[in-house]
Order: sequence, then structure tokens, then C-alpha cells
Amino acid sequence: MDRTILVTGGAGYIGSHTALALLEAGDRVVIADNLVNSSKQSIAAVERLTGATIEFAEVDLTDRDQTRELFDTYPVEAAIHFAGLKAVGESTEKPLLYYRNNLLSTINLLEEMAAHDVFQLVFSSSATVYGDPEILPIPEGAATGPTNAYGRTKLMIEDICRDVAAADPRWQISLLRYFNPVGAHQSGDIGEDPNGIPNNLVPYVMQVAVGRREKLSVFGGDYDTHDGTGVRDYIHVIDLAAGHLAALDHLPEGCREYNLGTGSGASVIDVVKAAEAVSGKEIPYEIVGRRTGDIATSLADPQRANDELEWRADRSIDAMLTDAWRWQSKNPEGYPRDDA
Ligand code: NAD
Ligand code: UFG
Repeated sequence: MDRTILVTGGAGYIGSHTALALLEAGDRVVIADNLVNSSKQSIAAVERLTGATIEFAEVDLTDRDQTRELFDTYPVEAAIHFAGLKAVGESTEKPLLYYRNNLLSTINLLEEMAAHDVFQLVFSSSATVYGDPEILPIPEGAATGPTNAYGRTKLMIEDICRDVAAADPRWQISLLRYFNPVGAHQSGDIGEDPNGIPNNLVPYVMQVAVGRREKLSVFGGDYDTHDGTGVRDYIHVIDLAAGHLAALDHLPEGCREYNLGTGSGASVIDVVKAAEAVSGKEIPYEIVGRRTGDIATSLADPQRANDELEWRADRSIDAMLTDAWRWQSKNPEGYPRDDA
């Protein structure tokens, strides 16, 4: 829609898919990323897929001078803030790294936005802010209580945004609480490319299907769910990217939280069976003990986003796994290395 949008963390998984959607909608995209968990190859692929040019700034947002220079250089009108570290286990081992990176980058971003008269922000929050939910499906008004340092950085950033918006009426901030993003663009040319052993279910399953790993460990077979394995609200990354465009088009006055999920759940075994069907590969698995901090079921109530953002996630779990498999089978080792 002919705006210049800053996409922090735009070389990453969700950011690259959202950058593509913005370019397809006619916006200009400036990506700021320090590439700590991503590759410039994703940006090149988005440019190839759209025929558009992306302005890329290799910026560490925890550095105030670099952040100021970013806003001095580009005529940013609104920002989508994906940049952050996101591995739950690592955040438990290195909490200060997570607090420093995620909080400082956001404070620098907010200060430089305000200094440059930019007051429109969409922030990547997470369903993890709900911790172990008391109500299912989870509405935005449910109690929060994250159970790890990563989740606490998300809730702290939400609090910072709420305080900033309360202090200055020019701010318009959407806090998007994603449930479980999976899948890839239908081209198979951009997708999720985790470093090392994947922490998350779908990338792990895909690496088993493609032959990079022997078998899946299923964390817990004795949960109170239809088959004993954990149930999650998986959302196709293309639906999630569309949610960011909808959020930009329907920014609130002040600050407001939105769940981005489908409202329906799949168990670990459901995911394994669907992945076997779409890939034609057997996915060996073994049920092992529960993973510390995991919950039985996480499901979004996405009604507020459906109504206020006029957005709905409707791609099926089969579509998510079909697209994840296309990406994985076209790129068994992920993106080529930047120096290759
Ligand atoms: P990702 O790691 O692929 O992308 C994050 C990007 O931020 C990376 O490209 C990384 O290099 C960059 N980055 C990190 N710290 C930076 C800094 N200080 N300065 C500049 N760039 C920096 O992760 P993703 O899956 O695309 O997630 C995007 C956002 O959504 C994150 O904030 C994440 O916490 C949040 N989120 C993700 C999930 C999920 O399951 N993927 C779920 C809920 C919320
Ligand atoms: N699982 C396995 N084996 C694995 C990996 C996962 O059985 O090798 C199971 C988990 O126990 C869980 C389900 O698969 O039942 C989904 O696990 P993920 O790690 O894919 O996702 P989580 O729901 O644990 O967490 C994800 C992100 C968090 C985010 C949360 C909510 O990793 O950062 O979704 O958005 F906060």
C-alpha cells in the first residue's frame, strides 16, 4: 500500500515471509537484521520471488548508534519488530543474553522511532506469555505467567509498550501473540532454517523425513489429550504474515493484544501422521519423557483478531506440512551459507 515499513529481524523465518507479503501488497521494505540467527540468502530469495528490491541494513538493534543511523537513513513510516532471540532452552541457560538482546533492542527501537516521529508498531509477542493456561481456548484477557526467561522478555516488552502508549497518545501498537508458526512459502524457496538440532517439532520432523535425523523423540505420551501427546495450535506462516498486514491496516489507538492462531489443535502424533502422508516418508518416533516446561494443550481464541483485524487463519495442517516439506525437500540443508 505504498508505505515504507521497517522489518526488524526480516532475514529470519517469519520476517522474510512477512517482507514478501508487504512487497506483494505494494509496500517498500527496509530490513534491519544482525544475521545472528539468519542468512542474507532469505532476503535474496524474497527479492527473486517478488521482483522487488529490499533495502537491507546489517544492524544490531542493541547498539543505539546503529539504530539511530537506521532511522536517519530511511524514511520509515511504521515498524514490524521481529528481531529477537527465541530459543526457550537457551534462554534458561543464558538469561542475561536474552534480557539484554530482546529488551535493549526494543528500547532502542522505541526511542529512535519516537525521535523520528514514527509511532506505528507491530510487535512479535508469543502465546508463551500465557504460561500454563487456565482457560482453553485462550482469550487475550486470560492471565499471563510465562515460565521461562524468553517468555518473560516477551511479557516485559509488552508491558513496556503498554506503558509507552499510555504516556503518549501518538503511539499505535499491536502486540501479536503468535501460537505455533510452521510451514513455508508455496515456492519452497524460503522457509524455516534452524541452526543445529531443531528445538521445534515441525522442523525436527522434516529433518527426519529428509533423512538428516534418525527418529523423532516425542516428549511425553501421558498428557490429558486425545492421544496422550501435546496439542498445539499450529498456524501457517503465510496466514501469520497476512496477520501482520492486517494489523498494520487496523492499528489500535494506544496498545492492544491479539492472538494469532487458528483455534484448532493437532497433537504430536497428528503432526507425524500428516507429515508421513504429505512426504511419503516414514517418520520413526519414540515416546520419551516430558520436556521440562511443556504444557498439555495450547489453543488460541482468535476471535478478537478475526473481528478487529478482519483476519482469519484458514490454512489446514496438511497445507502447513505440504509447504514445509516442499521447502525441506528442495533445500535439505537449508539456505546455502552466505560465504558459499
Ligand atoms: P528468527 O530467529 O528466524 O528471526 C529473528 C531475527 O532477528 C533473526 O534474523 C535474527 O538474526 C534477528 N535478530 C536477533 N537479535 C537481533 C538484534 N539484536 N538486532 C538485529 N537483529 C536481530 O525467528 P522467527 O521464528 O522468525 O521469530 C520472529 C519473532 O517472532 C521473534 O521475536 C520470536 O520471538 C517471535 N515468535 C516466534 C515464534 C516461533 O515459533 N517461530 C513464536 C512466537 C513468537
Ligand atoms: N515436541 C516433541 N519432540 C520434539 C519437539 C517438540 O515431542 O522434538 C513436542 C512438544 O513437546 C510439544 C509440541 O511438540 O508438545 C510442540 O513443540 P514445539 O517446540 O514445536 O513448540 P512449543 O509449543 O513448545 O513452543 C513454540 C515456540 C515457543 C513459543 C510457543 C508459543 O518454540 O517459542 O511455541 O508460541 F513460545
